[in-house]
Amino acid sequence: PLPKPFTVPLPIPPVLKPARTDGTTDFYEIVQKPARAEIIPGSPTQVWGYNGLFPGPTIVSRSGRRTQVRHRNELPVPVAVHLHGGKTPAESDGYPTDLILPGGGGASHQHHGATGRVSKGAKDYVYPLDQPAATLWYHDHRMDFTGPQVWRGLAGFHLVHDDEADALPLPQGDHDVPLMICDRAFDEDGSFLYPSVSPDLQGEPGVTEEYMEGVLGDVILVNGAPWPVMEVDNTRYRFRLLNASNARRYQLALDPPAAEFVQVGSDVGLLGAPVRHDELPIAPAERFEVVIDFSAYPVGTQVTLKNTLGDGGTADVMRFRVARKAKDDSRVPSRLVEFERLSRSSATRTRQVNFTQGANDGRVMWTINGKVFDPDRADVESKLGTTEIWRVVTDVHHPLHIHMAHFQVLSRGSEGRVRPSDAGWKDTMDIPDSELVEVLVRFTGYRGRYVFHCHNLEHEDMMMMGNLDVM
Ligand code: C2O
Ligand code: CU
Repeated sequence: PLPKPFTVPLPIPPVLKPARTDGTTDFYEIVQKPARAEIIPGSPTQVWGYNGLFPGPTIVSRSGRRTQVRHRNELPVPVAVHLHGGKTPAESDGYPTDLILPGGGGASHQHHGATGRVSKGAKDYVYPLDQPAATLWYHDHRMDFTGPQVWRGLAGFHLVHDDEADALPLPQGDHDVPLMICDRAFDEDGSFLYPSVSPDLQGEPGVTEEYMEGVLGDVILVNGAPWPVMEVDNTRYRFRLLNASNARRYQLALDPPAAEFVQVGSDVGLLGAPVRHDELPIAPAERFEVVIDFSAYPVGTQVTLKNTLGDGGTADVMRFRVARKAKDDSRVPSRLVEFERLSRSSATRTRQVNFTQGANDGRVMWTINGKVFDPDRADVESKLGTTEIWRVVTDVHHPLHIHMAHFQVLSRGSEGRVRPSDAGWKDTMDIPDSELVEVLVRFTGYRGRYVFHCHNLEHEDMMMMGNLDVM
């Protein structure tokens, strides 16, 4: 009983209020717990949510002001929280074995990989957020089980604001809208379907071999609602697009195509200058901040956000209904923020990174440079303050994600030509089959052990991850 597309109103995740603040820090509290959500009208779904919500509440921080989040775990399984795109000290980065064990006093289980900094019941994550304004997100990162736990709902926005971005005349307030796009599959009774090898997420990790390319759903959710509709003024809006899908890539387009996507921000910051797109490819975990000017459409127009890579239900994402005329004081200036373009000559070393299928103990797995993840092995050792070129080659599509260190795309493919959507500072990028991509990675931030991995979450859980030691 799925709803007709474009009938459910677009929800906006609530902004979380700090539990308290002091001269340096905003303190938040989040309880991770099961809850019932009415995703499909009339058939409630059990979700695992931050404060019981899917998406989780949005945290809004000020650049350079400390944010501390106490996460309490009232789920039946261990969790780890990663602030994706954050420059975070290692102990708060959600390393996959830095688990928060269930605090409910329930049965104790053997926890595979429980070798990290393990907390019982709750953990304080400290985020200095010494980084520019950006659309970050937080999600589960438990060793071996990130895919099913994010699928059940453990994902939310964490926005960072700063003075430089605030001074721009971009759309703001209720014309600045986060859109978390993800696909899900549902059972007849409304429950989420996910092909885990162990459905209670306690035993053997992973999915059966037929899903090892990644788990896809046939329903597209935006902010947790199936193919929603949003009424808009005939003015500019700023949308913070996030692909929070486990494995699905989208190519977004507007239908009718009178307006375009004017990109103003990438994963981890605003661009130096806007970039215009008719179509926008977005891989798992990528973010694009775009302005859409609905004055290109007469009042009354229905504008559908399409996915040109999809078919049937996955070809539609959501709809905007241009409902009324309104005054628009916003604009997109031709210069946005100060942007430092890294040059090839700034790199002090070059590494080869291969993302391919491989084997471990006779099982097919996903590997980096032929190796499956081992929390105890150093894979990449990089010096804080340096820049490196990573030459990445893939067998099939893999979205590369690096924790803590941000990067710029230097070249793609044999021609070396980057895509318009490669602009700006990134923490995740899409790498197609057997394409060679070069990125310039800058190691600023903190020393410690981080990870880099494929952000197809099934690939990640099937061990396509490496350690990044920043020295
Ligand atoms: Cu969005 Cu290592 O994760
Ligand atoms: Cu992959």
